[in-house]
Amino acid sequence: MKHIVIQFGGTGDLAKKKLYPAYEKLMLEEGFEFTVLALGRRYSNTKEFIKDSLGSDVSDQFLSHLEYLQYDMSDEEKATEALFSHLANLIGEDREVELIYYMALQPSLYEDAIRQIQLVDAKLKKVVPFTKKIVVEKPFGFDLESATRYNNILLKAFSDKEIYRIDHYLGKEFMQNLLLLRFHNDIIRRIWDNRSIESIQIIFDETHGVDQRLGFYEKIGVVRDTIQNHIMQIITYLTMNDPATLSPEDIATEKVKVLRSISSISEFHTGRYESLGANSGHVVNTPTYAALKLSVNSYYFADIPIYIRTGKMQKEAKSLIYVKFKNTTKKAMGDAEIEENGVIITIHPELTIDIKMNLKDPQTSWKSKSVRFRFNQTETFGANTPEAYEQIVKKIFQGDKSLFPSMREICESWRIVTPMLVEDENMEVYPVRTLPRFAREMATRNNFTWFA
Ligand code: BG6
Repeated sequence: MKHIVIQFGGTGDLAKKKLYPAYEKLMLEEGFEFTVLALGRRYSNTKEFIKDSLGSDVSDQFLSHLEYLQYDMSDEEKATEALFSHLANLIGEDREVELIYYMALQPSLYEDAIRQIQLVDAKLKKVVPFTKKIVVEKPFGFDLESATRYNNILLKAFSDKEIYRIDHYLGKEFMQNLLLLRFHNDIIRRIWDNRSIESIQIIFDETHGVDQRLGFYEKIGVVRDTIQNHIMQIITYLTMNDPATLSPEDIATEKVKVLRSISSISEFHTGRYESLGANSGHVVNTPTYAALKLSVNSYYFADIPIYIRTGKMQKEAKSLIYVKFKNTTKKAMGDAEIEENGVIITIHPELTIDIKMNLKDPQTSWKSKSVRFRFNQTETFGANTPEAYEQIVKKIFQGDKSLFPSMREICESWRIVTPMLVEDENMEVYPVRTLPRFAREMATRNNFTWFA
């Protein structure tokens, strides 16, 4: 079977930083065979595109399977005609062909792109039989209403089975590990509910700003960029029931149950770092940081507050999940210094999982000290964990949808964050490298301390 990836947004940041390296690795290290056709407006030919978009250490093997087509969506007739002839040429005499349309585009461009894909498909069909898939980057839509509308547009040209909606977090090792930690360990399974857990914190602080992505980001903001997707997916993995089987449908069923048990968020705050927009000479009101509280109102997780904070331009890059257990021991042992037990899943700077326990402090009699049992991914398994996008792209080639959120999950996630999408006129402007005041105040108000 000949696979051709048609990369919409082929000169964009995501394609350059994540997708091309993932394609190259799959080709070189895993023996996948395919051609990538990058579409973009910026360059007039393949040579210019390669010079500007790819590093100097790209292999010849990948380069020989990478082509570029100048594609201006606003000139529909010319663009679709050029794409049709290019594809017809690439397909040649092959009769077993799969076209993978990869949309790394602003959601507002989907409508035009899909119409153009339909035009190209209709012409191609007359020449050659082929199967097709479409891959759509997050955020899927702009809100609940537009996500539904975009989905209906996609369904005009593709069946749901052919649509791969991306959340690259599902391709991350820590995410898959979360499920295995919970479902492959009896002792964890028994303590993983509201009888034992007191609260959960999810912290995703990044040091970088919006940088070259300003144009994209200022229309999106932190809620659409990471909370509606990455954070909601993390919550499903933290609190879903074990699926009947590992089929994508059974996993989605459990995830949807979690999302449906979350009320739309009522405690949240957003802010933006003070220099956003300075480079392009205008000030924008896009939130770049948010803190929020929610709970999963299911039988086993109700009453566990989940505190989330995430955003850009922080002092340190920190990504972790802290599961804090109830501390009855303190009372039972009459020792206020005994710390709670906890599980700490650190994603950045490196993947570690710590179990926080209390053991005897050798300098004392009958006094304990908080210690950690640590698993370190690199030390145990080596440094060659595949990148999230490699895993995701591989699944697309294999036609395995277990790492892709279903449309129901996406809609439920939009419903949950809807209150956060309203423009906040009093958004806090925080100095870069500082935690916004609202995040600190949220902790004080709720009587907890951020774990990092
Ligand atoms: C992306 C967001 O989806 O995820 C970025 O658009 C964010 O703003 C990124 O920085 C974080 O992903 P990762 O893989 O770097 O943790």
